[in-house]
Amino acid sequence: MLKHSSNTWDGAVVYQIYPRSFEDSDGDGIGDLAGIESRLDHLVDLGVDAIWLSPIYPSPLADMGYDVADHCAVAPELGDLDGFDRLVASAHDRGLRLLLDFVPSHTSIEHRWFREHPEYYVWADEPPNNWVAAFGGPAWSRDERTGRYYLHSFYPEQPDLDWRVPEVRDAMGDVLRFWVDRGVDGFRVDALQQLMKDADLRDDPMATTPFVLPLGDEYGRLEHVHSEAGPEIRIALEAIREAAPDAFLVGEVYRPTRDLGPYLEHLDAAFAFELLHAPFEAGRLAEVITDGAAHGGQIAWALSNHDFPRLATRFGEGSAALAAELLMTLPGPVFLYQGDEIGMLDGGEAQPPFDRAGRDAHRHPMQCEPGPLGGFTTGEPWLDLTDPDLRSVSAQRGAEGSLLELYRVLIARRRELSGPVEADADGATLRLRRGQHTVSLGLPPATPG
Ligand code: GLC
Repeated sequence: MLKHSSNTWDGAVVYQIYPRSFEDSDGDGIGDLAGIESRLDHLVDLGVDAIWLSPIYPSPLADMGYDVADHCAVAPELGDLDGFDRLVASAHDRGLRLLLDFVPSHTSIEHRWFREHPEYYVWADEPPNNWVAAFGGPAWSRDERTGRYYLHSFYPEQPDLDWRVPEVRDAMGDVLRFWVDRGVDGFRVDALQQLMKDADLRDDPMATTPFVLPLGDEYGRLEHVHSEAGPEIRIALEAIREAAPDAFLVGEVYRPTRDLGPYLEHLDAAFAFELLHAPFEAGRLAEVITDGAAHGGQIAWALSNHDFPRLATRFGEGSAALAAELLMTLPGPVFLYQGDEIGMLDGGEAQPPFDRAGRDAHRHPMQCEPGPLGGFTTGEPWLDLTDPDLRSVSAQRGAEGSLLELYRVLIARRRELSGPVEADADGATLRLRRGQHTVSLGLPPATPG
């Protein structure tokens, strides 16, 4: 049972929208809030309960919006606050709840706080340790203006906030209250593993075994015992919960599922990344689902998001229907990434890339209609469409045997499922039991290697 916000999130299907790639209403080639509003009926038809918007805030886009330059505004290319209010109202009118992406662990280097409140960040005269940034390179960069070094767990354009500083907790609490007052129902909370680090900034040891989740090569060489997941995370999570007591809070904590306990004391749910990265094999899937089930309904399940290869690319197009059935049988909130409902595949990398860490491929525009522009825009799309003539919402809507129709049926069937999940594997068959219901999925046999 979820602990804090209403238990109406238990069993919810949340649809992840990547705003720049969902629907463009004004022909500039970039998706926007009015575009999202114009396509809400697709989501109502599909039967989802809520949408999560990846960041919508002004940003210099070093990390495609996860470098926030102003937490209480909308990026001009996506719309404005009035447009946001209209979107919230339209979503609520249709019975859809709305989650924003809250990015607490860092800001953009162009955020005014970086100059006006340097004390909000972590500084040193010289790099004090061996910490590495998640995308590679040292986690300390020299600020040319002051000659001092600041900490950044991600790109150098994303200085880390210091959540031990009470004013940081207050300022970020104000951000949460700002959006709750505008009617948002909750937040997906970004990169929580990076929120609290070792107070003494001790070196990370070399890794002796591979981490359970994929990491960048350089980042994976260290074992992140000091640069991540500090025990004082409680202080930060308490402040977040206090600022948004009734909001649904789902954490991105890129750590093993068994380590999520301290986060789940304050959050409603956290993603189990071991499922997202599991091979499509009955044995391993049963194992990761069982590990997640140990957290008693507080696990948020997802098979794709904007950071990793899409499920149809990872598992193969032929396995997309089985993956849909798997996901929609799991308890707790489940997250469906835009385009997965029509089996979208990864696209190519832009040249030069928008994302230096190689994630453009997973962020191509949504394909609502056939035709070269996929119904996404009337202009030049910021990233090419992948294959709208092969798969689109309008071609699959009402079409017998389409993946979209399967998702609709599975989401509707989900309403009949309740209670915890038990998972086991029998050869290549994955069995999921929810109360009276048993779903047996005959997966393709494991490929060696
Ligand atoms: C999260 C986001 C990812 C971003 C990172 C840093 O993992 O999902 O897109 O790059 O945080 O903010």
